[in-house]
Amino acid sequence: MNHDLQKRIEAALKNPQNMGEMPDADSIGTVGNADCGEMLRLWVKFKEDRGRQVIDKATFQSFGCETAIAVASLATELIRGKTREEALALQSEELSGELGPLPPMKIHCAQLVEGALRAALESSADCPPSPPDEPVHPKAASLADKLSESRKGGLRINFLDPAPRP
Ligand code: FES
Repeated sequence: MNHDLQKRIEAALKNPQNMGEMPDADSIGTVGNADCGEMLRLWVKFKEDRGRQVIDKATFQSFGCETAIAVASLATELIRGKTREEALALQSEELSGELGPLPPMKIHCAQLVEGALRAALESSADCPPSPPDEPVHPKAASLADKLSESRKGGLRINFLDPAPRP
């Protein structure tokens, strides 16, 4: 990884935005990468804005590398105020925004964030935003809680397609 990119990632990690679970989220997406073992969960809350449903806030938790955390921090800021469709149109390069182009070995880190966002937004199509004070997922567990739970059905993780090897 080049020195400039490493510095930008370190800067993003010094003050990561939107980390943590969101108990009153409208939708949740969890993805994993079987190759590197990283996982990321993203929570999304919508609000009404001039007749449109837009993303009010998004938060994340990650058992991921520094790059995935930096991208998730930037991406959760970037999608604020966007409609579901506008956010779904964003590609991983756009989500990693200020970090600039990622080297081939780190592209999948941004794709992990994109995958979690897609999982959350696609699940939100099935369950439209709830009225205030009535969350769709009233007890959204943290990623760690869900992983340590041993219940029937288990945690639904969307595994991303393996990235092509350079
Ligand atoms: Fe796999 Fe970053 S190394 S998500």
